[in-house]
Amino acid sequence: MLWPAEAIWEAVSPLLPTFSVEVLPQIDSTNSELMRRARAGQLDPVLLVAECQSAGRGRLGRQWVSDDTTGAGALSSLTFSLGLPLSPADWSGLSLAVGLSVVESLHPDLRLKWPNDVWLHERKLAGILIETMSVGELRYAVVGVGINILLPPSQDLRTPAAALCEVLPEVDAARALGLVAAPLVRAIVRFGEEGFAPLRTAFHARDLLYGRELVCSDGATGMARGVDAGGALLLHTDNGLKKISSAEVSVRPAPVSPSHGS
Ligand code: BTN
Repeated sequence: MLWPAEAIWEAVSPLLPTFSVEVLPQIDSTNSELMRRARAGQLDPVLLVAECQSAGRGRLGRQWVSDDTTGAGALSSLTFSLGLPLSPADWSGLSLAVGLSVVESLHPDLRLKWPNDVWLHERKLAGILIETMSVGELRYAVVGVGINILLPPSQDLRTPAAALCEVLPEVDAARALGLVAAPLVRAIVRFGEEGFAPLRTAFHARDLLYGRELVCSDGATGMARGVDAGGALLLHTDNGLKKISSAEVSVRPAPVSPSHGS
């Protein structure tokens, strides 16, 4: 596959002069690899793309499974991580800023499911895993993104999958990377300077949950009312407005009651 590594490097290096782009045929996990490198003192900004991950990781200790190829040899998903030193005044909302950049780069129909899933037509299209590490005074952030490019042959996942080819029929993993990578670096650098607050309105325009009845994993129920300036989910409950900021809270829309209309 011909990856647009040079074009991405040319777009990003004026902003981050020590930036590099690397494509590997196989690795356990691009996030794990960049965390290992950071622990070994490699802290320059880097985009690491893997054509195949043998132990891709998702949030909350889950696996991120991606079939490598279809019969025709095309990659069924795009998997990459971006590592860079970052020092925002407030880290809250980083995953929302990342998701927002990804959807805005790809297609108007894509939506964000708080805190950091990308959905298309009520199915999950992409996931984001952010990990950070303190190195002396610095904090190194690893932002991992997995995007389904083609639909898997079987749909036995907990959450049914969507794929980018449903809205961009000509897309492949390399083209998708060319669309998302440079804007994502710019968005993260801007987040480091300004935080989440300036992105709140843009987030609401893509918010999958806004106005929906939700059940949170801590038992709270209510109607989603967007996010606050720090990216916390606002839930309108019987006891007033509740802010949900814990990354451990998973949110699922409450079941829709059967219609009894005549
Ligand atoms: C989730 O939805 O739970 C997050 C999934 C994140 C998957 C990506 S694929 C590239 C990077 N490397 C990993 O091991 N995970 C992230």
